Amino acid sequence: MSFDIIVRGGTLPDGQLADIGIRGETIAAIEPRIDAEAGQIIDAAGNLVSPPFVDPHFHMDATLSYGIPRINASGTLLEGIALWGELKPLLTHEAVKERALAYCDWAVSMGLLAIRTHVDVCDDRLLAVEALLEVKREISPYIDLQLVAFPQDGFYRAPNARENTLRALDMGVDVVGGIPHFERTMEEGRRSVTELCEIAARRGLPVDMHCDETDDPLSRHIEQLAYETKRLGLAGRVTGSHLTSMHSMDNYYVSKLLPLIAEAGVSAIPNPLINIMLQGRHDTFPKRRGLTRVKEMQALGIRVGWGQDCVLDPWYSLGTADMLDVAFMGLHVAQMSSPAEMRKCFDMVTGINAEIMGLDHLGLRVGKRASLVVLDAGDPIEAIRLRPERLCVIARGKVVAQRTKQETKLFIAGRPPAVNRRHRAG
Ligand code: FE2
Repeated sequence: MSFDIIVRGGTLPDGQLADIGIRGETIAAIEPRIDAEAGQIIDAAGNLVSPPFVDPHFHMDATLSYGIPRINASGTLLEGIALWGELKPLLTHEAVKERALAYCDWAVSMGLLAIRTHVDVCDDRLLAVEALLEVKREISPYIDLQLVAFPQDGFYRAPNARENTLRALDMGVDVVGGIPHFERTMEEGRRSVTELCEIAARRGLPVDMHCDETDDPLSRHIEQLAYETKRLGLAGRVTGSHLTSMHSMDNYYVSKLLPLIAEAGVSAIPNPLINIMLQGRHDTFPKRRGLTRVKEMQALGIRVGWGQDCVLDPWYSLGTADMLDVAFMGLHVAQMSSPAEMRKCFDMVTGINAEIMGLDHLGLRVGKRASLVVLDAGDPIEAIRLRPERLCVIARGKVVAQRTKQETKLFIAGRPPAVNRRHRAG
């Protein structure tokens, strides 16, 4: 028996040491020791071997556009939307594609091998849809890309957004999006949730809606999203992204709301980097944290992942394509500090995000797709603490990125020269 690749002596997320044998695009064996021929040996040397990172909430049509045509002065969501509106008429097919592909290269180097991106459908040209559909095809050998038809300026509020959403879905966009809190009235927001869920039900598509991304505790569109999910039998296919208004809702109302979300089988994707930055901008003090109720939802069995949302765009001036940065921030803002909670944060940016996106082929198990990451860390908690180098990234059975360990040589008077490997414990 022979393998194309053996990843030798890695530490799996559960702490077991194992060799991983890869044949073609598939994980063919995971055993304590594999003695067999292999075309290529990757020496993991005790380092953490993880399933790939997955980002279930991103905006690839806007990424890497920071500063074009200007910078978001107030730092608010609403100025970001206005600024994106200034940029949209300037977009070209080539520029959108070039920025998206540059971002995807970056993502691969960080072991980020599956991304769900919203794509704005309010531009009648739908050129970003066309560009990202091309990108999706071109990167399919190494990244699973899902597109969400996203009526950024409002499904009813923006001219043609309804028609353009349907056109984008006809073109092959995978998921139905929405933005109920940005419609003109609460009632129109509610109706948009209903109609968009009905469109998804008719077409057999998932739903992923920007929902209640506001500090207004009366923004309760998640309630309607849960109701429609139940009514239309969409359990497991519907996601509410952001859900920030929940941080300010009355506790009594939330005690009714969360069981409804759990019963409906709706998933949640908070985006901690962007929301700790955007939310609470109208507050003085005390100032709200801007994150939804993560642990409380998880306690009721609601599936919650972490999304990145933005990198270098009208809403967010930073970003690294590193889902460990997202987990690190989420862990802090949600106060997920126990060892079990920190491990959960790692699962959220790998396996749980993959579940939310319906990517059953990912995971470190025999028969799954041979996509994995070797990190310069000993375990998932250390990975979040250090956000270390991705030493090797394998996608569909091919090595797509390799990097050497980051080491600093120390020359301190009175001590022999030493090497500092970023404070690893082992
Ligand atoms: Fe978003």
